[in-house]
This record gives sequence, structure tokens and C-alpha cells, in this order.
Amino acid sequence: MNSDAPAMAEESPPASNPPHHDLPRRHFVLHVLTLAISSIVALVPLVTGLIFVLDPLLRKKKSSGGEFVRVTSTSAIPPNGTPMAFIIRADKQDAWNKFPNSELGSVYLMKNEADEIVCFNARCPHLGCTVDYKSGKDSFVCPCHDSAFKLDGTRTNAIPPRDMDTLEVEVRDDTEVWVRFENFAAGTHDKKPV
Ligand code: FES
Repeated sequence: MNSDAPAMAEESPPASNPPHHDLPRRHFVLHVLTLAISSIVALVPLVTGLIFVLDPLLRKKKSSGGEFVRVTSTSAIPPNGTPMAFIIRADKQDAWNKFPNSELGSVYLMKNEADEIVCFNARCPHLGCTVDYKSGKDSFVCPCHDSAFKLDGTRTNAIPPRDMDTLEVEVRDDTEVWVRFENFAAGTHDKKPV
């Protein structure tokens, strides 16, 4: 061999050609990526559908407390403190359906000594029957198990676990009586909305 001949550079494989043992790994990574992307694409409509279905339930959970319902006019409430019973009707809605003008319950409206309108839910806090006003006795009495209450709603025997449930009243435009209506759990010492 001629020692004066120019040295030949050693040939190395082109950078774009990976060694053969890297190919299966590349295929595997590509396969995993493809699988991940297809899973995400498939999940998007599923998640969107779930949100659509569950949204009414989630919105219902967020809202608490009763809605104000227009019940009567101020002139319908006797000035002498006699309680008047009223049925409460309003549009009712569960998670998905609306039931217009449904009966939600009943209330007693009356004027107190300060001439303010007060309201009691007529549902007995014992087990949920409707309490009667006994005009002769100036009291409320439940026909089911004899729970009894004074006209200010305080109980006069130990049958009910609590006093009658008061409800918030608003007089609007000087004539309209609105009540924030809600029902409360029967049989509990605390007033728990249901
Ligand atoms: S439900 Fe009223 S006394 Fe029992």
C-alpha cells in the first residue's frame, strides 16, 4: 500500500437511517400516540353528552331555598289577625321536566299585632299532614295526631318536634303578597328544607 496516498475518511451510516433495532421502538411509540389521540377524539362527544345530561341536576343542586310566589292581595287578609289559608300554585320543575301551575302546598297568612303579615307553612312538622285553624280555640290543630300550636306558631304540646314553619313574606307594589314558599322535613327538630 502506498503510504503517500490520501487517507480515506471512514464511512458512517447516514443520520436519517436509524439503526434497525430502533424501528420496533418507533413503531410502538407511533402506535401509542395514535391510540391516545383516537381515545381523546372518542371521549369528546361522550363527555359533552354527559355534561348535557347532568347539567340540569348540577344546576338544581346549586339553587337552594324556595321561590317567591304571588299568593294574594293585602286586602284579602283580615285586619283582626284571623289566619287565612291559601293554596300555593306555581310551575314545578324537576331535573328535566316542567309541570305548569302545580300545587306545591298551602300556607296560612295573617296579620300580627304590629300589623305585619306573617306566614306559616300549613304542613305539620310532626309527619306532614295539613294543620287546621280552629277559630273557636284560636289555635292550629293537626287532625292526624293532635299536634297543636298557638296563633304565633309555637307548639302547645310535645307531639310536634318544632313550631310551625314560618315563611318569608314580601308585599310588592303595596298590594301584592308574595311568599318564598318551601317545604321542610317532617319529624325533625331543625327546620330542614326538602
Ligand atoms: S302529622 Fe300532624 S300531628 Fe302528626
